[in-house]
Amino acid sequence: MATNRTFTMIKPDAFGAGNSGAILKMIEEAGFKVVAMKATKLTPELAGKFYEVHQARPFYADLCAYMSSGPIFAAILEKDNAVEEFRKLIGATNPADAAEGTIRKIFAKSIEANAVHGSDSDENAAIEGNFFFNQAERVL
Ligand code: PPS
Repeated sequence: MATNRTFTMIKPDAFGAGNSGAILKMIEEAGFKVVAMKATKLTPELAGKFYEVHQARPFYADLCAYMSSGPIFAAILEKDNAVEEFRKLIGATNPADAAEGTIRKIFAKSIEANAVHGSDSDENAAIEGNFFFNQAERVL
């Protein structure tokens, strides 16, 4: 059964462009509740660890450099069937392929600077949420 939480980051491009508020508004209007949130900046080492599942992929070094290039918001979101519902809301990884009205279609600049991250499974949502937040930093 699907869990009701997912994990997201508002990436350096969207944070830097001042789009975090507009993106959060879309997230809340889509029925997600924010149950943990922080502004932070990843070091290259932390980005490397977060994305280590992709370490064999050709874009891994670029992705880690990019994700440590500026501040981000990290958040845990709650809604029924959260992982799937959130991936629908954000749209395809490459904004050129993202559906109209999705967060990436509206705010992403490229496949790298694509505005937001969304977990791809319930298991990864839990791992990623635990990467950023301890028990005292989230709504239980
Ligand atoms: S996904 O969402 O996991 O199915 O997408 P995937 O294609 O597997 O990509 C995983 C993450 O890598 C980023 N990505 C890239 N970064 C830089 N350059 C290129 N070419 C590139 N292709 C994919 C993509 O934005 C995914 O990041 P997250 O943070 O998971 O969205």
